[in-house]
Amino acid sequence: MSQLSTKHLLGIKNLTLDDVQLILDTASSFKEVINRPIKKVPSLRDITIANVFFENSTRTKLSFELAEKRLSADVVNFSSSSSSVKKGESLVDTVNNILSMKVDMVVMRHSSPGAPHFLSRNVKANIINAGDGTHEHPTQALLDAFSIKEKLGEIAGKKIAIIGDILHSRVALSNIFCLKMLGAEVMVCGPITLIPKYIASLGVKVELDVKKALEWCDVANVLRIQLERQQIKYFPSLREYSLYYGINKRLLQQLNKEIVIMHPGPINRGVELNSDVADSEHSIILNQVENGVAVRMAVLYLLAGQKS
Ligand code: CP
Repeated sequence: MSQLSTKHLLGIKNLTLDDVQLILDTASSFKEVINRPIKKVPSLRDITIANVFFENSTRTKLSFELAEKRLSADVVNFSSSSSSVKKGESLVDTVNNILSMKVDMVVMRHSSPGAPHFLSRNVKANIINAGDGTHEHPTQALLDAFSIKEKLGEIAGKKIAIIGDILHSRVALSNIFCLKMLGAEVMVCGPITLIPKYIASLGVKVELDVKKALEWCDVANVLRIQLERQQIKYFPSLREYSLYYGINKRLLQQLNKEIVIMHPGPINRGVELNSDVADSEHSIILNQVENGVAVRMAVLYLLAGQKS
């Protein structure tokens, strides 16, 4: 198979196993390209891409922009905080005005779950979801899968624990869909108040004890506590969260095995992850960021071939 089954990347839920494997295989080729002295290829010359961000981002925004430039696309960046959205312009009007300037593809981050899905039904362009509220973050899950495969050789049969604020995490949901599709066993772990009730119906194990989760897993994907999305108190204090769920070197030393530590970033150092783990030989956090460029190049390249 050399084509995706879809013209948009809205979520992992909307992809087939063939789609995911095609993206990961294509990303391997682009990883080789971006490690050459000349990192640029002409694949998307004459394609114009708008990065439309209604929410803050460091990794995803820069990584998409680099991916676009390394594919020779023309790039425009939109940030809602300095735009006419502040004067009341709607999402569809905003994007349709950007598309009038002969833009072909839109990469969008939005705080509302489903915003990219809504947009895909109302505008004529390829839409790529760069994170929609608490719903999905498909390119993060793809780069996480790519990084696990790169580190461990394969994903099928591996035990992956996703630890932390599962309730507010789009990374958790996209990772669950992606890793289960690729044959991994998946566990979620965190305080019961941060674990959605529906989660077991997705075929994942649920564990409240972080030590047991670490003993079980080959890979721990540690998530940020998303205070900005929490309207009520889900645990007494950050100090207490850190005491019961924070991952530090002492916890890892108690295991009779080596595990891989991941985090999508940004890290709350000293809350969900201590620096003695985040910066240790167990961590592949910066490899995840590096791989994000190759994975996003693959997504853009494949979707650009799906214009009709
Ligand atoms: N992982 C991630 O989405 O990071 P940013 O919010 O910085 O893009």
